[in-house]
Amino acid sequence: MAVQIAIATLALLPHLGFGVTRFDAPPSVRDCKELWFEQLVDHFDASPPPGGSPTWMQRYFVCRADLLRPRGAPLLFYCGNEANVELYVNATGLMWENADALGAGLVFAEHRYFGKSLPFPRAQLDQRLNYLSSEQALADYATLLRHLRSDGGQLRPAVAFGGSYGGMLAAWLRMKYPAAIDGAIAASAPILSFLGLSPPYDAGSFAQAVTYDASAAGGGSDACVHSVRAAWKRLFALGASEDGRASLNALFRLCPSSRLRAQADAGVLAGWLQSSMDFMAMGSFPYASSYMLNGDGELPPFPLRHMCRRIAAAIDRTEGGGMPHGTALLAALREGVGVFYNYTGSPAAASGCYDLSVSGNNETSRDGLLWDYLFCADMLQPASRDGVSDMFFPQSFDLGAVVAGCRDRWHVEPRPDWPTTNYGGWRALEAASNVLFTNGELDPWAPGGVLRNVSRTVLSYLIPGAGHHVDLFFANPADPAPLRAVRAAQVDAVRAWIVESRRSTSTAA
Ligand SMILES: *[C@@H]1O[C@H](CO)[C@@H](O)[C@H](O)[C@H]1NC(C)=O
Ligand SMILES: *[C@@H]1O[C@H](CO)[C@@H](O)[C@H](O)[C@H]1NC(C)=O
Ligand SMILES: *[C@@H]1O[C@H](CO)[C@@H](O)[C@H](O)[C@H]1NC(C)=O
Ligand SMILES: *[C@@H]1O[C@H](CO)[C@@H](O)[C@H](O)[C@H]1NC(C)=O
Repeated sequence: MAVQIAIATLALLPHLGFGVTRFDAPPSVRDCKELWFEQLVDHFDASPPPGGSPTWMQRYFVCRADLLRPRGAPLLFYCGNEANVELYVNATGLMWENADALGAGLVFAEHRYFGKSLPFPRAQLDQRLNYLSSEQALADYATLLRHLRSDGGQLRPAVAFGGSYGGMLAAWLRMKYPAAIDGAIAASAPILSFLGLSPPYDAGSFAQAVTYDASAAGGGSDACVHSVRAAWKRLFALGASEDGRASLNALFRLCPSSRLRAQADAGVLAGWLQSSMDFMAMGSFPYASSYMLNGDGELPPFPLRHMCRRIAAAIDRTEGGGMPHGTALLAALREGVGVFYNYTGSPAAASGCYDLSVSGNNETSRDGLLWDYLFCADMLQPASRDGVSDMFFPQSFDLGAVVAGCRDRWHVEPRPDWPTTNYGGWRALEAASNVLFTNGELDPWAPGGVLRNVSRTVLSYLIPGAGHHVDLFFANPADPAPLRAVRAAQVDAVRAWIVESRRSTSTAA
């Protein structure tokens, strides 16, 4: 890892008028300094964790450190979410492009248990997941900020940024630790996707939004939605017999370790197919992107639309070829999900077969596993599908079954209402200040987000034609016009919060 601070070639486009910096080549971790900060393993228990060090080293990156030299210069702070923080350093163009205009240095903090921020040695990690929680992560960020903001008796203004779970953390950081941060840019943050909220979260909304993205209205085609919806029945019918499972193994090119042996295995295959569509819908960006694959591999622009085109082409090719229609449909589905699972350089491309235990690649699979722990131990989000209002198959939300699954997989006791008790719903938002939420029309997490303005300083912007927190990314010629306007509003808000912070009479938290 290069630690020298190189300033990327800056090509200013003055006609934009915002002082936004455009980059010939996007900057990345290579332009940042990798640093470490000593954190407590447990912020909420003064007795040290049994059989281990009471502290660990959290990784963070500082970029544009040159801008932090003036006394009291502000900092923009990315709240790392569930991946190696380098992903966010590389992707968060909104911070990079506005650093100069705001005179602000950049900090990207890594979430505990991800990337290189490991509270325990790697070999012990999976036995010691009990310190993995959003509360501990927020306490890490508040502690790190206290250290970073103090500048010789002056307090630097600081604004949080985050997307998806990182956006939830950014919003919650401002709500829980208002002294730690002056405001939050919370992109695609589904902080209202929990149980016990009023009005309640619609557990079916995620799958409906994925379906919308595949439909003609969302840029796909209605035939695509019909094909996908029709395929499951055929899949489950085949899964019920041994001969049928042999057909599925061949049709879906399953690796030996993933071959379906019992009827229940058909559900594993169906879940694997379905989850690729969830990810492709989240990755509805108007240009090719490696983001959904943690930087390792690339998905095409609007991957779900791409899947739909592949399904249509495969059906066209096989229809009339004597293949029974249901089989052709399943073969077409295999071709379609290949957009996600068989990208250039994917494990499937290398092996020629699909491993149902791999979601994307090893790194995204690992992150998905840790996310499952967070889901079970800390942030249970209800989800259901019905195959009618969405293109999937009936999967009711059965809290008892979810709890049993969590006990079985992680030996934890889920607390279904805890996120609502801990972070609050609308009432907590009404009591908050300086949070700007954004949600893209194509983002399946948008229904769990804050979709209306709450107060003068807790604002929400909806972005037509936009995917999952694409507003945080580098500007791209393919960006829809409303997205550009929202970015300008985000920067205006950050500027206002910095001014407000400087006016504050206190010089420390
Ligand atoms: C970030 O960018 C650097 C430099 O281009 C690259 O080497 C690295 O693989 C990228 N990491 C991720 C996670 O995207
Ligand atoms: C992945 O795609 C390549 C060509 O694009 C193809 O040859 C290969 O069979 C595909 N793998 C699977 C598992 O379908
Ligand atoms: C991915 O993980 C599997 C199982 O742990 C391992 O066999 C394989 O070598 C890994 N692949 C890569 C590219 O790291
Ligand atoms: C919230 O207010 C802003 C500024 O007035 C406005 O541009 C935006 O569209 C409003 N958001 C919603 C969801 O109505």
